[in-house]
Amino acid sequence: MRDRLEELQSQGLAAIQQAEAEEGLRAIEVRLLGRKGEITSVLKSLGTLPAAERPLLGQLANEVKQGLAEALQARRSDLQALAMAAELEADGFDATLPGDPLPGGGVHPVNQVSRDLEDLFQSMGFQIADGPEVELEELNFDALNIPADHPARESHDTIWITPPDQRGAGKQGVVLRTHTSPVQVRALRRFGAPLRVVAPGRVYRQESLDATHEHTFHQMEGLVVDRGVGVPHMLHAMNTLIEGVMGRKLETRLRPGFFPFVEPGFELDARCPFCKSGCGVCKNSTWIELMPGGLVHPNVLRACDVDPEEFSGYAFGLGLSRIVMLRYGIDDIRWLMSGSLSFLRQFHP
Ligand code: DAH
Repeated sequence: MRDRLEELQSQGLAAIQQAEAEEGLRAIEVRLLGRKGEITSVLKSLGTLPAAERPLLGQLANEVKQGLAEALQARRSDLQALAMAAELEADGFDATLPGDPLPGGGVHPVNQVSRDLEDLFQSMGFQIADGPEVELEELNFDALNIPADHPARESHDTIWITPPDQRGAGKQGVVLRTHTSPVQVRALRRFGAPLRVVAPGRVYRQESLDATHEHTFHQMEGLVVDRGVGVPHMLHAMNTLIEGVMGRKLETRLRPGFFPFVEPGFELDARCPFCKSGCGVCKNSTWIELMPGGLVHPNVLRACDVDPEEFSGYAFGLGLSRIVMLRYGIDDIRWLMSGSLSFLRQFHP
């Protein structure tokens, strides 16, 4: 019986190796391992052997059975792999060719400039602060010393979520924030003085659109509150900022400006880099309004529980979208939020 088993094993393995197709393998499997197969009948006949021989031969028979089953499985996978390779080759598929390059994404120019400015300000010890784009009326206006009937509210052309006439009793109005200034209040209420933060973000206004006006645009708010802070500190920060983001000094000028949340208030203008004698971007003035700012109004400090007798500060509201336009020579703000791929692809390969 041992000889018979060894013979079945060697013949079986040889037949398996020679099989060229799945059907051949299945026939071999039935012939050897099927219910009436040759190995099966050897296993069945073990009972007729003397008890002393049974364990050894039984073990051998099981090993042969297992070995043949594994050989069948291995040959089956080989045949499948060969079949697939043949099919792919017939299709002209070549697994060794390099793949098509995937189109890479890139960082939007607004985010590029925002990140550069965040780095710059972090290097000067500022924190980066964040606030919601759907903002409470109280934070967008009241806490910033803009009372309910103040004309400054109208200049903001607010997009209301809960308009004033639909507010329930004791309920607050909700707006799409018209500027990043409410983050001043959020940060100061949360962290207290002294504080240095910048808050980049998206803001919204109901605008008639043109080359310099978009309903959705970006600002970066800056706020420094400490003891003894004054206008020279503000000027230094503004100039560092412009030089940092443009990579060169631009001619700038400071004009008085009015904002309810600062006193005194200023406008920082930069010389238009697109023209010498006036163009659409600078509205023929050769100057571009870049950055309003001023010394934080005592009412704002009070609204944030900071004592104006002890602390003073400056704030500025950088037009991030404008800075992006200046840096990349973009002559129409509407490109920025256009989603145009041909526009965006210019900023990365
Ligand atoms: N929030 C103002 C705006 O969007 C800009 C601004 C002006 C911000 C003066 C300031 C500031 O922090 O001091 O029109």
